[in-house]
Amino acid sequence: MRAHAIVTTVGHRCGSEASFTKVNADGVLDWASSTQPKRAIYPWSRASAYNSSLARFSHRIPYPISSNSYTQQIAALRKAGAALLDLTVLNPSRAFADYPHDLIHHAFADVHDFTYEPHPFGTESAREAVASYYDRRSLTVHPERIVLTASTSEGYAILFKLLCDPGEEVLIPSPSYPLFEYLAFAESISAIPYRLNYDGAWYIDFEDLQKQITSRTRAIVIVNPNNPTGTSLTSRELDKLVLIAHKMQIPIISDEVFTDYPVTPRCDIARTLIEVEDVLSFSLNGLSKVAGMPQVKLGWLVTNGPGAEQFAARERLEILCDTYLSVNAPAQSALPALLSAGEMFQKTIGSRLEANLQCLDKLLIGSAASRLQFDGGWSAIVRLPGMGDEQDSADKLLTEESVVVQPGYLFDLPTSYIVISLLTNPEEFEQGVAALCRLTERQLTQE
Ligand SMILES: Cc1ncc(COP(=O)(O)O)c(C=O)c1O
Repeated sequence: MRAHAIVTTVGHRCGSEASFTKVNADGVLDWASSTQPKRAIYPWSRASAYNSSLARFSHRIPYPISSNSYTQQIAALRKAGAALLDLTVLNPSRAFADYPHDLIHHAFADVHDFTYEPHPFGTESAREAVASYYDRRSLTVHPERIVLTASTSEGYAILFKLLCDPGEEVLIPSPSYPLFEYLAFAESISAIPYRLNYDGAWYIDFEDLQKQITSRTRAIVIVNPNNPTGTSLTSRELDKLVLIAHKMQIPIISDEVFTDYPVTPRCDIARTLIEVEDVLSFSLNGLSKVAGMPQVKLGWLVTNGPGAEQFAARERLEILCDTYLSVNAPAQSALPALLSAGEMFQKTIGSRLEANLQCLDKLLIGSAASRLQFDGGWSAIVRLPGMGDEQDSADKLLTEESVVVQPGYLFDLPTSYIVISLLTNPEEFEQGVAALCRLTERQLTQE
């Protein structure tokens, strides 16, 4: 079973137990008293590699993966035939009954030429299609700056190889997407968290970010909007980040997969690094989120920044990408049609996000449960008070209300926080949110 599948469905923490963050009396997420380890995060046992009579395998693989008790409970309940309300579905092809299967079929059916023309960065016509995608967002990107990948995850792997030697480090936001640790370990590097704080809005803790920079730091990752916090970078934050990156000569990796899903349009938001010229950076995106088509396996990265540095990066990227040539040729040929189908489907996704968010906000009125503010993305973070520190709200929701959520601890959030998918079928979503409000009221009256 792939780690990716595990972490993106319900949640898996490979043995690291506690949530590292705390909430102070004002409900502000507080990392000051954090016991979070900052270095050498090996969430799996090194010993396991030697406990085998088989050939010796590398330490890059998080083996063995043991499912946590929450995942085990869900599996047992499903096996017993329990009807569960699932608020974790982030796979668009499962979340929508009106998923555009026919449009995807037509896009591929229109491909007639299957000549294999290997190009390390992807075919010119496919890169032009990506450039047009940016053009429709009023961003000028020359196709030369575009490198096609099989997915955004592969984009990370390529960039980590480009920028880091084994033993070096990349800075990643915390809370954020749990796959980073896996991706980093697969490249024999460490993912070092820097804090995002919340005081009614999420923001980068720049003091912490700067503290984490060492002589081993090779990249700063930002996720804009972030998953699951939905944070977008403000223009001021971007300026500050670029200043630090420029001064320290550290490239930025900007994950922009959720950029087309803003929740609240804000004018002070910096949506992309594509036009930033002062520092070498890479903007990641792909069909997985842009078009709601993770199964097509086509992503891309855009090189940004000073021309000479981009050139040097691209020369090396060419060698790396040529080694694998991993992008599917029919998908590249179908890309213009896939993008245009996907951009239509984006509107369907956008309406679902909006409707579920409205439903959430309506049901939370008068409830002690509350949601954190966010700017975009497919998830919402909800705080369920009254559970007590040692109790896990996700566990309680499952056992008492048959609701499946992503536990906050998966993202290093305190256990009273849960993450729910705004892509969920609206009926199921409403029932699930009503159940979590019910549980909160019950908990508070029992206190
Ligand atoms: C922030 C973020 N980046 C990257 C990915 C992976 O995207 P892909 O399917 O293109 O590998 C995800 C998947 O959920 C994500 O949430």
